[in-house]
Amino acid sequence: MVAEDDDRVLLSLTGITKSFPGVKALQDVSLEVRKGEVLALVGENGAGKSTLIKILSGLYRKDSGEIRVGGKIVEIDGTKHAKELGISTIFQEPTLAPHLTAVQNVYLGREIVTSVLGLQTMNEKAMFQEMEKLYRKFFPTVEDLHRPVSELDALKNRVIEIVKALSDQASVVIMDEPTAALAEHEREVLFDFIRLLKAQGVSIIYVSHHLRELFLLADRFSVMRDGRNVATVNKEDTNIDQLVSMMVGREISNHIVKEQVRIGKELLRVSDLNRRGVLRDINFHVRQGEIVGIAGLAGSGRTETVRAVVGADPISSGTVAVEGRQLRIRSPRDAIKGGIGLLPENRKLQGALVELSVSHNITMAAINRVLSKKLVLKKRQESQIAEDYVKRLGIKTPSVNQKVRFLSGGNQQKVILAKWLFTQPKVLIFDEPTQGIDVGAKVEVYNLIAEFVRNGGAVLIVSSELPELMGLSDRIYVMHKGKFVHEFSRKEATEENIMLYASGGHE
Ligand SMILES: Nc1ncnc2c1ncn2[C@@H]1O[C@H](COP(=O)(O)OP(=O)(O)OP(=O)(O)O)[C@@H](O)[C@H]1O
Ligand SMILES: [Mg+2]
Repeated sequence: MVAEDDDRVLLSLTGITKSFPGVKALQDVSLEVRKGEVLALVGENGAGKSTLIKILSGLYRKDSGEIRVGGKIVEIDGTKHAKELGISTIFQEPTLAPHLTAVQNVYLGREIVTSVLGLQTMNEKAMFQEMEKLYRKFFPTVEDLHRPVSELDALKNRVIEIVKALSDQASVVIMDEPTAALAEHEREVLFDFIRLLKAQGVSIIYVSHHLRELFLLADRFSVMRDGRNVATVNKEDTNIDQLVSMMVGREISNHIVKEQVRIGKELLRVSDLNRRGVLRDINFHVRQGEIVGIAGLAGSGRTETVRAVVGADPISSGTVAVEGRQLRIRSPRDAIKGGIGLLPENRKLQGALVELSVSHNITMAAINRVLSKKLVLKKRQESQIAEDYVKRLGIKTPSVNQKVRFLSGGNQQKVILAKWLFTQPKVLIFDEPTQGIDVGAKVEVYNLIAEFVRNGGAVLIVSSELPELMGLSDRIYVMHKGKFVHEFSRKEATEENIMLYASGGHE
């Protein structure tokens, strides 16, 4: 019996500990990964999930504890060694070399070479053909694979990282928030891959805040809290509510209720906005006290719309007005001056200056509010403001002086959220506001949005989470192929009829 049980264990961790200055990231973590299972690793932002994964993938060294692969004790001493041991990782942060093409990235360090007249040359064609098969399942256009990845959008970068890990032929594939930037149908392709890997006996460690999604995939759940592994349970023996209370150590309500606030004058009006080939005749408005949602499939133009509004992308024609005054917006800076802030998606790439402290990041978009008349930084005041946001958003950091680089993924996102709240705009636009944020913090984000409109602001939200969008919004616009195709009132909106318009089923 015992021997049989041991056979099933591919990877085991015992008593793993890891500290950073001022932070005990992991304390006595023990975990077993069985052959051919999907083990979900869940926990609040800063619980230690990514740290554990970085140890397994050779990026960090553990302080103490024991790791066994196939029963043998190993000291993983680098990323190359981890790969040799059969452990391949899709990290939470992008890791591709921006100047290299997709093919070059995927085959970095294990290029396919052929010998031509005794000369070793790289066989780009063979690498391309091998990769094309995987990539085509996500996107039909494979020309992308020959361009530097810096020229491709975040979604394609994500897919290339996934393809890279899948083509490693690993026995353990670790995925840290792999679906963060993926659209619904791409998620499904990824899930099919995961099931395929599983059927081949590959083990998957899957980190996500998306509990509903995890219930489709996982065999077991391992819950982390404050650097400890508090429980490991079979999927059949648990449910979302129980997992959430194990993660946060208290009961929280997952329910979104939009409170009724007075709807006032029109704050934002966008008229006849066009961007050739991308957006067509976009017209909408948001009033004081209103939360307005934009629904649509990935690629329908939601992000492009909000980026065009704040001048992050060029437009062919159209106008943007705040409180009836037409703005001249050529860059996001003009938008901020005009009273519009955009909290972008993929905040890792676009929002934070990771080498700066938490407090500088929070105040930088409205720096004049913490400068004296002689333009000297009022340090004490800046720290106080930062500490206030850290407390309200539950940002986990040893102090406001910590560099943002050292915060966990979700906590970096909260810092950027604080930055935009501090600019005190009239109109705040959120693109996927709760992506990568844990269940407890989501509720805090909803509360902050509610507080913002209660105080007379207007909010525009893009979200792929329909329950979230429907729970928050007074009205919802639906996009399809670069156009606004329908507007729903709060009462009319259901998941089914939003999806109908989003998928073009109304045409
Ligand atoms: N290189 C580092 N230097 C200092 N502190 C770090 C470093 N890496 C992680 N930490 C700290 O260790 C703790 C655990 O972080 P980790 O990134 O493992 O969390 P996580 O569970 O992955 O969270 P999230 O869901 O937000 O991604 C956090 O308090 C984080 O600030
Ligand atoms: Mg993480």
